[in-house]
Amino acid sequence: MHSSSLAGKSIIVTGGSTGIGAAIAATAAAAGANVLVDYVADPGSADALATRLGQSDPSGSVEAFDADVSKVEDVTALVQEAVRRFGRLDVLVNNAGMETRHSLLDTSEADFDKVLAVNLKGAFFAAQAAARQFVAQGGGGVIVNVSSVHEDWPMPGNTAYCVSKGGMRMLTRTAAVELGSHGIRMVGVAPGAVDTPINAQTVADPAKVKALDDAIPLGRLAEPDQIAAVVAFLASDAASYITATTVVVDGGLMQMSPGL
Ligand code: BGC
Repeated sequence: MHSSSLAGKSIIVTGGSTGIGAAIAATAAAAGANVLVDYVADPGSADALATRLGQSDPSGSVEAFDADVSKVEDVTALVQEAVRRFGRLDVLVNNAGMETRHSLLDTSEADFDKVLAVNLKGAFFAAQAAARQFVAQGGGGVIVNVSSVHEDWPMPGNTAYCVSKGGMRMLTRTAAVELGSHGIRMVGVAPGAVDTPINAQTVADPAKVKALDDAIPLGRLAEPDQIAAVVAFLASDAASYITATTVVVDGGLMQMSPGL
């Protein structure tokens, strides 16, 4: 029997203090996991989240750790910290991500470097650090990469972001093939439009929300919990035969025809 439980598993969630990451941390904690929430931009909110989750779910353990995923030494320290606190590592969720919403014509070198460093380099080296730990401790492990429908689907005006997510798509496929013989799975999750801070400007404008909702077959933006539930499933043993692919969680957005 392959359990959908995360009880007793040691899990890292990068970018775990807000948005989809916070929902993943809460879902994993409620399922009994020990969760290390990585944060960088918003320390107060990560500590508050850790305290709140720890209180609401005494069986799980949630703690916060300051690591900038764009720095290899920080992601290495993040993995070491999870092992120090929880004794081992079972799951890495590469969730940290950002976008600047610039077209190719308007993207600066600094914007490009930052988006690629957080979204792709961060996921790459966090995966490397986690996979080295999985191999050293034995027994496999799981890496879930929170990507986007834009790993596959152009988003004009957000080119560097699409490039980073396209890279994440191939990270998922290639590294999963390399790591399969170690019993390590790597799976992508591609959310569509989700009600999180990354979409704050859209969500604040009723006309934009209506246009977005109208473009989604299920009729509305996702709540972060709806993404987190899929991440929790993929991280669990119930998904033990899923690797080297991406699960799209977009309410049908990618299949919508403009009807022209
Ligand atoms: C982007 C959002 C966008 C959504 C749907 C996400 O990956 O971060 O800005 O609204 O995709 O297009």
